[in-house]
Parts: sequence; structure tokens; C-alpha cells
Amino acid sequence: MNIIEFKDKEQLGKEAAAFIARSIESKPDAVLGLATGGTPTETYKELIHLYQMKQLSFKQTRTVNLDEYAGLDSHHENSYMTYMKQHLFDHVDLPEDQYFLPNGHASNLEEECLRYEKLIQDLGGIDLQLLGIGQNGHIGFNEPGTPFDSKTHVIQLDENTRQANARYFSSIDEVPKYAITMGIASILSSKKILLIATGKSKAEVIKQLEQSEIHPDFPASALKLHPDVTIFIDSEAGSLR
Ligand code: PGA
Repeated sequence: MNIIEFKDKEQLGKEAAAFIARSIESKPDAVLGLATGGTPTETYKELIHLYQMKQLSFKQTRTVNLDEYAGLDSHHENSYMTYMKQHLFDHVDLPEDQYFLPNGHASNLEEECLRYEKLIQDLGGIDLQLLGIGQNGHIGFNEPGTPFDSKTHVIQLDENTRQANARYFSSIDEVPKYAITMGIASILSSKKILLIATGKSKAEVIKQLEQSEIHPDFPASALKLHPDVTIFIDSEAGSLR
């Protein structure tokens, strides 16, 4: 794991976007694994900027997102499909039939997980996976205890995760209790991984990530099993190292 610290979240966003852009430049039809949440918004803003400056095109790129809430229609204001459209897809030249998220509203969620995992394989696997990290060490929605050999699956969200995400909903009761997430094995199958973390609230988990043993109780520790992981943090997230 190669950890690089930047001054603030704005600089990190620029560098993360440049990292992703390099991947697309070297392989225009790259498969990008994308993440949602508060952390990547700056990165997506910078990717849109690069597109607007005509320095980047997503015309041939394919994207697969890490996760989606179960029970929310893709048009729901809090679905991750809506997030991705608002923060990236609606602002760049990525064709509509080239971005994919799990369907959290599928009538059979187990079948949907199998379909999604197969879709990733059929696309040729993920070239670069962007990840955030939860305060409890989750990657995607792989909460502590998730086996490292897990593929895309349905997961019950930790209370800690629901509370962290309640800020986007009118109340905690509205936050879904389940989600579909790529598994740890799905994530580790990516050729390259970029994890980003910003702010004081991530300082403890970044310290833990550096020091932890490899164990399912701390899902992000699985990244130590991967040969090509880059971690971008800002000075606040690095403040307890
Ligand atoms: P955040 O979420 O970017 O909103 O902090 C990250 C995560 O939970 O993986």
C-alpha cells in the first residue's frame, strides 16, 4: 500500500481525478469501479472539469459502481444511481448504456447479485477501482466480519454506517437497512485500486489501516493482500499517523 498525503481535500480531488484520467488515457475503454459518499465528490468535480477542458473523454469508458441501497428505486433521490448522475454521469460524455450499478429494487436480490458479478466479468474485470473507507473500516458496504472471499452480495448495514449516512435522509428511519455491495473478493480482483480518505473523521481509521493485521473484522485490511493499492489522504485524515 502506497500512502500519499495531500494538503487538503481539494488538492486530493485534483490528484485523484488525474490518477483516474491517466488510467482512461492509457486505456480509453477501461472499466472503472466507482464509489459514492462524501469523499469522492471533489474527485468527480475535477473529472467533469477535465472533460469540459476537453482533456478527457469517457466515450469508450465503462463504469461499475460498488454498491446500491436495497429497496430504493434507481430514481429515488437517495439512490446511488441518482448520486452518480448528479455528481458525474449527467455532466460527461459517458454513454448511458456504459454505466452500471446494482439494481437495489430488483424483485430477487440474490439473483441480482449474481447478475452484477457476471456483468463485471463480462466487461473484462475492473481496471481501476475507486474506494472510500467507512469509519468502521468498511470498503464498499462490506461491513466488519464480511469474508474476504465474498462476491457481490446483500448486506445488512451496520448501525454506525446508517448513522453516518443519515445526513442525506430526512431521518435515520429512512436509511435503508440493507444494500447490495461488491464483495471483498470482487474488489480485490480489480487490477488497480485507489482509496481516498479526507477529514478528521477518517484519521482514526487511517491509523488503523496502517497498523492493522489482515483480518475480516477490519475489512479494509484486505487491501494489504493486493499488489497495486494507492491510498490518497489529506492532512486531516493523516493527523493521527
Ligand atoms: P464517505 O463514505 O465518503 O461519505 O465518508 C465512505 C464510505 O463509507 O465508504
